[in-house]
Amino acid sequence: MKKTILVLGGAGYIGSNTAYLLNQRGYEIIIIDKLIYKQKFDHDFAKLIVGDFADTNLLESVFEKYKIDAVMHFAAFIEVGVSVTNPAEFYDNNVVKTIKFLDTMIKHGVKNFIFSSSCAVYGNPVKVPIDEAHPYAPISPYGKNKLIVEYVLQDYAQAYDLKYISLRYFNAAGADPKNNLGEQHIPETHIIPLLLRAIKNKKTFKIFGDDYNTPDGTCIRDYIHVKDLALAHLLAFEYLIKEKKSQVFNLGTGHGYSVKELITAAEKEAGQEANIEVFARRAGDVDTLIADNKKIKSILNWEPSYSNLENIIHSALEWENR
Ligand code: UFG
Repeated sequence: MKKTILVLGGAGYIGSNTAYLLNQRGYEIIIIDKLIYKQKFDHDFAKLIVGDFADTNLLESVFEKYKIDAVMHFAAFIEVGVSVTNPAEFYDNNVVKTIKFLDTMIKHGVKNFIFSSSCAVYGNPVKVPIDEAHPYAPISPYGKNKLIVEYVLQDYAQAYDLKYISLRYFNAAGADPKNNLGEQHIPETHIIPLLLRAIKNKKTFKIFGDDYNTPDGTCIRDYIHVKDLALAHLLAFEYLIKEKKSQVFNLGTGHGYSVKELITAAEKEAGQEANIEVFARRAGDVDTLIADNKKIKSILNWEPSYSNLENIIHSALEWENR
């Protein structure tokens, strides 16, 4: 019998790319999503249930109707800046509701959980590349949300019949325009879509600080193509089913690019120069975030194949121009 995966937030950017891949590989997909950023979901690779992932009545009916083999949880608020100004909303959605969901899931005998964590759990790195043993020192409510859920998962896995994999994403980027899957945040805060839109509309692109401790003074990030992120979830699921062991993995490419390097690559891809202005640093940004990804490569045999910078920018531009 086909295995069934419940994907919370599966209409969103990373969730939809993952749900698509899982379905391609023969799994049955059920999505619970509130569609807060979208009016409709035009895909046939999953059954969509519109609702809140912490609505207990809804969950009871889903768990009674379907035999769920695993849950993947993408339904978190992601904007770091908003987590600072509105922590209550972030703690409620990202922590309280997640715990409520886990309690219902465990009550219904679902044993496997894959969690979208973040490199934000490390805060300001004391060592780069960052491995999983790097100290935790999140500097935003968002990063703290992710870390708290990781602690909850540790304790729940000890006490209950639960196995989990926590994937600490670095910077998700790129798109799958052929399958109509890409980034659609409201408001958009991520560098690649903002940069591509600025070039296209001949608007100014703001660099948030060029006085960082990096070779060209701008921040360095580890950009990972969303299709490589999706693959990690597939491998994590298959590992949980086979090995029945909880794990925490960094999920990045191990290579970093500066804001200025991104601008050069985007200009080349768009065939047009960007209007650049240097602004003050954005609160909460750190110099450099690069993953040490040895662990996920050796245990899950994960290997990125879409994450070179040209490919990321090319797919993102195609998505923007769709
Ligand atoms: N940046 C600019 N100008 C912009 C937008 C961004 O210069 O208009 C810079 C930022 O200052 C940063 C880099 O581009 O140096 C990347 O910024 P993003 O907003 O694209 O991504 P972040 O690294 O801030 O955020 C990502 C994820 C978060 C996660 C965080 C962990 O999107 O969900 O990494 O640190 F929490």
